[in-house]
Amino acid sequence: MPKWLENAIFYEVYPQSFNDTNGDGIGDINGITEKLDYIKELGCNALWLNPCFVSPFNDAGYDVADYYKVAPRYGTNEDLKALFDKAHEMDMHIILDLVPGHTSVEHPWFKESMKPEKNEYSGRYIWTDSVWKGGEGIQGVGGSLRGISDRDGSCLLNFFSSQPALNYGFANPTEKWMSDVNSPEVRSTVEEIKNIMRFWLGMGCDGFRVDMAGSLVKNDDCARATIKLWQEFRGFLDEEYPEAMIISEWGDPSLSLEGGFHADFLLHFGPSHYNDLFRCEHPYFSHEGEGDISEFTRAYMGYRASTGGKGMICIPSGNHDMARISHKLNEDELKLAFAFLLSMPGAPFIYYGDEIGMRYLDGITSVEGGYERTGSRSPMQWDESKNAGFSDGDKLYIRLDDSSDRPCASKQMQDENSLRSEVKRLIEIRNQNPALSNTADIEFIKYDGYPFIYRRFTDTDSVYVIINPHADKKRVSYIIEGEVIYSQGKAAYAENGGMVVPGGSVTYIKR
Ligand code: GLC
Ligand code: CA
Repeated sequence: MPKWLENAIFYEVYPQSFNDTNGDGIGDINGITEKLDYIKELGCNALWLNPCFVSPFNDAGYDVADYYKVAPRYGTNEDLKALFDKAHEMDMHIILDLVPGHTSVEHPWFKESMKPEKNEYSGRYIWTDSVWKGGEGIQGVGGSLRGISDRDGSCLLNFFSSQPALNYGFANPTEKWMSDVNSPEVRSTVEEIKNIMRFWLGMGCDGFRVDMAGSLVKNDDCARATIKLWQEFRGFLDEEYPEAMIISEWGDPSLSLEGGFHADFLLHFGPSHYNDLFRCEHPYFSHEGEGDISEFTRAYMGYRASTGGKGMICIPSGNHDMARISHKLNEDELKLAFAFLLSMPGAPFIYYGDEIGMRYLDGITSVEGGYERTGSRSPMQWDESKNAGFSDGDKLYIRLDDSSDRPCASKQMQDENSLRSEVKRLIEIRNQNPALSNTADIEFIKYDGYPFIYRRFTDTDSVYVIINPHADKKRVSYIIEGEVIYSQGKAAYAENGGMVVPGGSVTYIKR
């Protein structure tokens, strides 16, 4: 594992909505460079940037048309290199978003592959051998494109209709048109992805968040062939770029970590029960106290057991695909949620704006293939100047939260009781206590009902975390002794041989 990852705390930047430096209403790379100070001041020392490459933006850039070039609307490759350099000077790291599963229909490879004449790219995507035959019923396929050219075949899709699937073959080819995972056309796709990684890593990038990482090989029962493929990529990185990290959008660490990913996300889809925390009908972290964290904890323990504690399980505050964490939680509840997120193992990931409680904008018009996700992608609210300090322009590419009481970073930085100040404090506490670090162990003590109690530990350090989001105080029948190093609300206290855990509180006890 790259050394820097052991202490990494990530901040996800959605480039188009972060900071616009040239007034065109779209965030840009220089805008990110300008705000590294802000991110570092919060306590984050690593960034994940959503795709910033040439694209027609039918899916916000997850439809890449040139893997080797920064989208002109964000700047140039030199700007990105300058961002890497500046970040490294500040002892920070930057990972890019790698989309290996599909490209945009505008990608030159795809245009070549559409031609009826056989050429170098005919096998780069997954085409059936007749336009009347699609990819229905194939595991990992989201439909097919047909009748778009004179090539007699349908091209299988991964996500939107503008995102044809690159060809990594089939675990068990049953039709002539299905490539074997070792076929020359699959091998050339794999080698090209390595080249893309080399290109950016060589420029100073520190790794990748990998989009839809579990979806590469089709008809792949239990992901065996996809895991093998990722082991190959990891082997390549270990050899050529041992300091580079890869984290998967997979949502199942028992598979992804075996594939060689250094880390995987728990996500709003998949088997992890992540939604039970903050986003289901009755989130655990709500004061109403109707939530359940037991299934989440059981799944989590299962992942830890199956991976032997190796590799990281990352629990993000949110991301560009789901409603913001503030959607169902008020400010006090958010503080408790962050006390949990920032005391769990694995590298924390804070989605831009979550540190100030930016809101999910319900029902706003879709922008660039966002649909309901658009509500979590609005411009960062920096201050109280024009466009909340996001842009000097007159027309923003996406709507700003226009409520008069919208949260704002500069105000929260002045206020020691703000959400942002709490997040910053929590990061400081995490950094000061080895038991709370990314790689320290965890043991769950109580996860039925409220409160939720766990212990983080190393050989020499140990911190108990006691969280009670419920509005009512709760009792447990034992006492956890030690030094209270942090609390929100009134700290838990001993009484009559047990412990009282006040409503809406969190206590860290060092022992
Ligand atoms: C991932 C991305 C999402 C994108 C999809 C297709 O889920 O996070 O934003 O739309 O992949 O690339
Ligand atoms: Ca701009």
